[in-house]
Amino acid sequence: MQEFLNAERRGTVLASLRTDEGTLSRDYLAAARSVLRELVAMPDLVRALPLERKPGGYTRNLLAGDDSVSVWAIVWAAGATTCIHDHHCSCCFGVVSGTVTETWYRAIDAQRAIATEQHDRQAGYVACMLPSGPNIHRMRNLGTEDAISIHIYGFDHEAHESSIETQYVAVEG
Ligand SMILES: [Fe+2]
Repeated sequence: MQEFLNAERRGTVLASLRTDEGTLSRDYLAAARSVLRELVAMPDLVRALPLERKPGGYTRNLLAGDDSVSVWAIVWAAGATTCIHDHHCSCCFGVVSGTVTETWYRAIDAQRAIATEQHDRQAGYVACMLPSGPNIHRMRNLGTEDAISIHIYGFDHEAHESSIETQYVAVEG
């Protein structure tokens, strides 16, 4: 599964994300941002990878992973949308190409959330969020072309299915 990046690049990415302080630490987040900045600056390399695509949906392609982090390329077809969710781990992402629209939500109870902000994340955008901070969001591709983003999560892909902790239903504010 981890054949998208060659072994050397994969090793470099994982080595730069390795930390004694854990994947919530400031040093780790700085390293994740720096890896993302590097990858979003190489859109041709990422676009040339044989990434899986799904009409109308999104696909997750594992680029690198070990027992503490996983790095994914997500291809967002036109119309693709995630559920409204929060995360059980740190979640950093960068947009390689296209635009991903991110809507933020505020939980009003354990299942329901109200949209608070919406932003178009363009190619080059990099951000990190922590499970301890506001981190309920939904991501969509509202455009007509594919978008590609890279996500670095503080979870072991062999231990967790995804970064999602809880799914919410949107209610009007
Ligand atoms: Fe997310």
